[in-house]
Amino acid sequence: MWTGLMNKYRRYLPVTDRTPNITLSEGSTPLIRLHNFSEQELGGLKLNVYVKFEGLNPTGSFKDRGMFLAISKAAEAGAKAVICASTGNTSASAAAYAARAGLQCFVLIPDGHIALGKLAQAMVQGAKVIAIAGNFDDALAAVRTISEKHPFTMVNSLNPHRIEGQKTGAFEICEQLGQAPDYHFMPVGNAGNITAYWRGYQEWQAAGQIKTLPKLMGFQAAGAAPIVDGHPVKDPQTIATAIKIGNPASWRQAEAARDESGGVIEKVTDEEITQAQLKLAAREGIFCEPASAASVAGLLKKAGEGFFRGGETAVCVLTGHGLKDPDRAIAIAPPLSRVRADSAEILKIIQAG
Ligand code: F0G
Repeated sequence: MWTGLMNKYRRYLPVTDRTPNITLSEGSTPLIRLHNFSEQELGGLKLNVYVKFEGLNPTGSFKDRGMFLAISKAAEAGAKAVICASTGNTSASAAAYAARAGLQCFVLIPDGHIALGKLAQAMVQGAKVIAIAGNFDDALAAVRTISEKHPFTMVNSLNPHRIEGQKTGAFEICEQLGQAPDYHFMPVGNAGNITAYWRGYQEWQAAGQIKTLPKLMGFQAAGAAPIVDGHPVKDPQTIATAIKIGNPASWRQAEAARDESGGVIEKVTDEEITQAQLKLAAREGIFCEPASAASVAGLLKKAGEGFFRGGETAVCVLTGHGLKDPDRAIAIAPPLSRVRADSAEILKIIQAG
């Protein structure tokens, strides 16, 4: 029986006998091989492309990998309350694990700019949700100030336990493939996850579990690409609200992951993100949220540029489930057909294809 990440990777995590295991059985997400992308779409080459579907974690995103540990360590330290800023997924995860631990949870979100499913999760899971007139960067600045002076444990990825937990994603990918992939594609927002994956791959190599390391390929949304542009973006814009971030907290670590691995951090447009999300859903049956599709959009972009030689293995992390953002899915999907409950009329629509 799968009982979560602490039991599986205890040796690699900063836990002791006194650390409670606040778990919802996070982790152990599937690595799914893509079948239906044509060679033409992949730059005329055969590539082995897999997606790591992190949307199948307990709250529907990769955040659970780090949150179980951040909350377990907060509980161990005797904290009574946790606080975070969020574009949605962190707040959903923090609320769930705080509820499980019996801790109070305060979340700051940019008012009107988080996806419906994430808002619903935070609210129903008992967090105090504070919608601020500002963006994610403003919310995170406020959380940093408040948690410095008041007894709330901050559970954003500036909390080192978040990164420690999230690195297990790299362990799992290597175990599932039997080795490290050649390329690891992922979206980049606040840049905690790329930091965590790079640490995970390096530790797995140091532990003698893999021989080679992947190149880390990070992708920001074109309207929210501070690392690519080389300066903070004051008013970030993208339909991928999860990564609508103008001043990532782990900026330097993301650059280090890129440079040490020999990878890249580039941008993809909202249109490229949307096309990748639609293709994954309609052609592979894999429904991820827009920010997650930035990883596959990045892969398709690099393939189109003639980046690969053929035969390489690439893993794209799908960070969150598509159900997180139903409004966006309905907006980009082909329209539904409305008709009277009359079989002749229904058949007409079916036959029209
Ligand atoms: N994908 C999804 C679905 C996310 O929710 C996030 C970040 C990222 C990618 C980027 O990860 O920040 O570690 O580079 N979401 C945060 C939140 C900011 O508040 O939920 P990152």
